[in-house]
Amino acid sequence: MALSINGTQIPPPSDPRVSLLDLLRETLHLTGTKKGCNQGACGACTVLVDGERVVACLALAVQYDGRSVTTVEGLAGDGEFHPLQQAFIEHDGFQCGYCTPGQICSAVGMVAEARRGVPSHVSSDLLADVVPLTRDEIAERMSGNLCRCGAHNGIVEAIAATYADTTNYAEAAE
Ligand code: FES
Ligand code: FES
Repeated sequence: MALSINGTQIPPPSDPRVSLLDLLRETLHLTGTKKGCNQGACGACTVLVDGERVVACLALAVQYDGRSVTTVEGLAGDGEFHPLQQAFIEHDGFQCGYCTPGQICSAVGMVAEARRGVPSHVSSDLLADVVPLTRDEIAERMSGNLCRCGAHNGIVEAIAATYADTTNYAEAAE
């Protein structure tokens, strides 16, 4: 068995105590995924596992044997930014930048959740097939990813602009 990391098959660590975060950073040197709190509170280590967002610091790497992990390095393709990465630049969605990879991975997973109708704490229609990403929805759904330096509004703008087909943010903001 193996983990797929950004499309490359990687054997699981022999030590079952190794976190997915440490496998990525310390063994594979994929340092885009950041270690902030290392206790599940900041979201800086967020990656995608089979498209679902996961905080890698709380995940044991061996749990993901046979699964497909995507880090921020895997979102960009062929030297091109992922559209959300480009939007973060255009909307000034980062200042320190340390939280940015986790924000971007989390947003990609978050939009997929909204598109399949997974409600959040602020959703008004719990049975909607697709949850429109208003500003409140984006802020609530991204609340597990902390930005302490003041780029939060830019982050929300970048997500709203990139996923305009899933958001009525523009209308709500008028
Ligand atoms: Fe994983 Fe903070 S480093 S949530
Ligand atoms: Fe990283 Fe704000 S951009 S904390």
